[in-house]
Amino acid sequence: MCLPPVRRGAIWAGPSGSPRPACNPSPSLQELDGAVEQLDERNVHFQGKVRRVNSLPASSDSSSTPAHVGAAKNATDSPEANALPLAFVTGGSRGLGYEVAKSLRQKGHRVLIISKDPERAAAAAQTLDCDFRAVDVAEIETFRASLSEAVATFGVPQVLVLAHGVMSEKMSKTLRTTDAEWRRVMATNLDSVFTAVSEVGSKMAEARNGRIVIFSACLGRMSGPGNAGGLAPYRISKAGVNALVRNLAHETAHGSRGLLVDAICPNHSRTDMGGPDAPRSAEEGAETAIWLALREFTPGVDQTGLFWEDRQVIPW
Ligand SMILES: NC(=O)c1ccc[n+]([C@@H]2O[C@H](COP(=O)([O-])OP(=O)(O)OC[C@H]3O[C@@H](n4cnc5c(N)ncnc54)[C@H](OP(=O)(O)O)[C@@H]3O)[C@@H](O)[C@H]2O)c1
Repeated sequence: MCLPPVRRGAIWAGPSGSPRPACNPSPSLQELDGAVEQLDERNVHFQGKVRRVNSLPASSDSSSTPAHVGAAKNATDSPEANALPLAFVTGGSRGLGYEVAKSLRQKGHRVLIISKDPERAAAAAQTLDCDFRAVDVAEIETFRASLSEAVATFGVPQVLVLAHGVMSEKMSKTLRTTDAEWRRVMATNLDSVFTAVSEVGSKMAEARNGRIVIFSACLGRMSGPGNAGGLAPYRISKAGVNALVRNLAHETAHGSRGLLVDAICPNHSRTDMGGPDAPRSAEEGAETAIWLALREFTPGVDQTGLFWEDRQVIPW
């Protein structure tokens, strides 16, 4: 009897990075519970309850904050749910990532949200009826291990939206930025984007079926508003994201091999980062990313590997 690829709260207990077999004798829930216990290496939110185990297996950094993994209490777990197109959305606990995750759920995707704070991730997943992983994306080894585990558990997603991010300190002009502030912002906004693209995007490319949408910012442009100075780590991290997208698009033949990759500027939106006085709602800020994740795409006719704002291509 075939085991559905995902079972709520259960984790593929094979060696790190190994694919979950497509077909297994169906274990009982108790057996699956036992497998989770044997892992002994993870923090698990299990049907709404927190079960503490230690850290993800691939992390060799003992100082790393462990990942929390789990599903919302009501997350769908039927063969029908497992047949839905799959989306991973970072930053899905709030703000623009939450809006993307909400919309993809409404449009019939199975969604895994990934964010940092375990309680916020669990609450958002509960509301959205989706799965979650809570992991600090700036801790590269833990993040990579968490992504590897998520792919082993859920499969290779068709959609990867990277909507996490942090703003740099207000006075972070280049000559006033500390090493620690530079590293914090670069690790969160840029290094983690490489990690996600390398760990998950590589598998999407192999499957010749995937869309990667990355939240950049107009502040990262090398033309127009990107040139005003100030907020150096933030602007430069987003310029790096833009360069990564452009580079990857060339390396993957601009969508002709089934992998689309695009950057977006959501514009100033009312989120925790954008503040309450921003001119756009979070829904408006998320709209172009959702469109890019779901649009019809004909290679040679439609464009990818670009920087988008309001469904229009803008200069880098
Ligand atoms: N809002 C705007 O006006 C605006 C404008 C241009 C570009 N952007 C870009 O759009 C994206 C989304 O922004 P937003 O306004 O939605 O931000 P937000 O409301 O501040 O939300 C940030 C999200 O990123 C997650 N996150 C932050 N640091 C993390 C870490 N170290 N590990 C894992 N997750 C982490 C947060 O998780 P927790 O909840 O666990 O903290 C949260 O889900 C960002 O890339 C931002 O740079 C936003």
